[in-house]
Amino acid sequence: MYFFQILSLAIQPLFVATSAALRQNVVFQFPPDPNNETQVIQFFFGSLVNETGAAIKGTNLVSGSFIIDGTYCTPGSSHDVNVLEILVHGISYDKSVWSSLGLGNETLNWQLYAASQGYATLAIDRLGHGTNPQHPDPLNVVQGWLQLDILHQLIETIRSIPRNGLCRTFDRIVYVSHSYAGWLGTGLAAAHPKDVDAIVLTGFSVAFSNSGFESTQVVSAANMNPKRFPSFPLGYITIAQESQREALFYAGGYSHIIAEQDYAVQDTWTIGETGNLGFFVPAVNYTGPLYITAGEEDIIFCTAPGATCEDLLNSTRELFPGVTEFGFKAISDTGHTLMLHDSAPEMFAEVHDFLGKVLSN
Ligand SMILES: *[C@@H]1O[C@H](CO)[C@@H](O)[C@H](O)[C@H]1NC(C)=O
Ligand SMILES: *[C@@H]1O[C@H](CO)[C@@H](O)[C@H](O)[C@H]1NC(C)=O
Ligand SMILES: *[C@@H]1O[C@H](CO)[C@@H](O)[C@H](O)[C@H]1NC(C)=O
Ligand SMILES: *[C@@H]1O[C@H](CO)[C@@H](O)[C@H](O)[C@H]1NC(C)=O
Ligand SMILES: *[C@@H]1O[C@H](CO)[C@@H](O)[C@H](O)[C@H]1NC(C)=O
Repeated sequence: MYFFQILSLAIQPLFVATSAALRQNVVFQFPPDPNNETQVIQFFFGSLVNETGAAIKGTNLVSGSFIIDGTYCTPGSSHDVNVLEILVHGISYDKSVWSSLGLGNETLNWQLYAASQGYATLAIDRLGHGTNPQHPDPLNVVQGWLQLDILHQLIETIRSIPRNGLCRTFDRIVYVSHSYAGWLGTGLAAAHPKDVDAIVLTGFSVAFSNSGFESTQVVSAANMNPKRFPSFPLGYITIAQESQREALFYAGGYSHIIAEQDYAVQDTWTIGETGNLGFFVPAVNYTGPLYITAGEEDIIFCTAPGATCEDLLNSTRELFPGVTEFGFKAISDTGHTLMLHDSAPEMFAEVHDFLGKVLSN
């Protein structure tokens, strides 16, 4: 069962319900007491230490009906290139990261830029994030595997059902991610190599570093801000301090107004999402185009010792050995959340130049 509902605005909120028999999530070997914040936070930091997450002891089939909100933006019909970009945010963000966090800053709005180039965009809230009404079990339900399957079903619906909520299908679909959603994109390309026609990973590389998080205080969102996160299970976690969030996600040229807003509207993530990064496997059967970009001062993905950011992005191609059309760009004077830095227009242009070339074939 699928249904979409659209409101008639230029940039439209969209609601997608997917009802699904879903793939295996993992079962953790040493789960925390879900009602003990200390244990929940210890589990998060413990899982970060391991490259693929916390120890697991098995798998568990999860199913359910989930509501996924999105913001849909279309270009004028005169220059529509019939391509849909599905924009997928990272942890502690939601769909507003693609449109200046609600500040109305047109310079920092991926969706407006894409529309100006003829591309439609659908920025979704991943399960458990943003304005989605549901906050399922943060350890056993809201995991990457389930997120990946919801993405797959969403793409299938848009491709194959003309009467979907967008009221149209598209010639081509592009997966665009920020940060954590790069793992999801890699997993999607591995499990469903024909789902999308191109992949753009931003704020991501093979060289994940947890060191930035080590100096960051992480807390249960409901305890920190019960008004914004009323009765969220304690496994929905977030960053306690504004200065630490700014240091983690921003560097180089950016406006402090943006960084303040970033803390004011920050979202959460679940200990199940970061507890298992096991879908981080090479997407051997994906043969479409790939573009990877990150800020040169991104302390999470682009500052490994002994390598330049360019080198790290270039070697991230290892995850996609079947790709022949490959582009990458390290953006100078820029931190992790690159679409909210002063360099954003340059990055938007680089990405769309690449897409224009590879999709015009
Ligand atoms: C929460 O877990 C910590 C660490 O295991 C433990 O020391 C503490 O007693 C627990 N608190 C409660 C209220 O059970
Ligand atoms: C890290 O992984 C190893 C090997 O799977 C496991 O023994 C260990 O318990 C894991 N650490 C945590 C904190 O889950
Ligand atoms: C890649 O595709 C081949 C041929 O369809 C299939 O046999 C193989 O299992 C796939 N590999 C992976 C890792 O999915
Ligand atoms: C990227 O890596 C390839 C090897 O995989 C190398 O041949 C190429 O020169 C590198 N490009 C740049 C710009 O460093
Ligand atoms: C929008 O963001 C850019 C980049 O940070 C900044 O230079 C500009 O002043 C902002 N515009 C407004 C209207 O705040």
